[in-house]
Amino acid sequence: MSLIKSKEDIAAIRAGGRILARVLRAVAEAVHPGLSTADLDAMAEKLIRDAGGTPAFKGYKAFGAQAAYPATLCTSVNDEVVHGIPSVHSILKEGDIIGLDIGMQYEGRYTDMAVSVAVGKTDDRAQRLIAVTKKSLDIAISKVCSGVSIGDIGDAVQTYIEAQGFGIVRDLVGHGVGHEVHEDPVIPNFGKSGHGPKLQEGMVIALEPMVTEGSWRVKIDADEWTWRTKDGSRAAHFEHTILVTKDGAEVLTM
Ligand code: MF3
Ligand code: CO
Repeated sequence: MSLIKSKEDIAAIRAGGRILARVLRAVAEAVHPGLSTADLDAMAEKLIRDAGGTPAFKGYKAFGAQAAYPATLCTSVNDEVVHGIPSVHSILKEGDIIGLDIGMQYEGRYTDMAVSVAVGKTDDRAQRLIAVTKKSLDIAISKVCSGVSIGDIGDAVQTYIEAQGFGIVRDLVGHGVGHEVHEDPVIPNFGKSGHGPKLQEGMVIALEPMVTEGSWRVKIDADEWTWRTKDGSRAAHFEHTILVTKDGAEVLTM
């Protein structure tokens, strides 16, 4: 299928993106000590279904995993980078940081989004990690326009993150989205300006920098989903679904 979305595609993704942003905001606001990550997942699933959508990650098979992803939400706590699986045994405590990643199918199209938040009060370094990661997504979005090389985005994100003294994850990347959860093009959060394919007006992409407090090196758990830092340092993740326009970008998950 073409990577350039039709008017109908864009209308459906825009409507879905707006709903998804509202759902994720509600879930993020519910985060507090004592809650389990399974509680957050149940809330996310109910909000999506009540809005007429379907959880996109539940039952998703990818990344070579044998088992389908079992939940609506990815909940990645502290040294978990992405794709942490919600569990009744994972109880949030004051000072934790958590990445909340969610995807929805709505009117046959997919949107994808993530935020990271602190559980109660956390330390200054964790707050800075979250703020810097969020800013790196804004920087990525500011590079987007028709004709830009994908390497320009990665270069800008990597340069900013490394100047802040943090690590930028290489093993996982942003991606096209819309007809599927993951489609082409692949959009690394590192790279060199002028390199890589060019974005075109009408593409819909998910930009998602993953940032570590320490080394950027990551590993995957035996559950085949949960990515965590090799050095045990904490990580943060933000993601938006974005329409590439002639002169810039329209954030669809807002
Ligand atoms: N937002 C996630 C990503 O782009 C999608 C996770 S799919 C899941 O990597 F199945 F792991 F949830
Ligand atoms: Co994504």
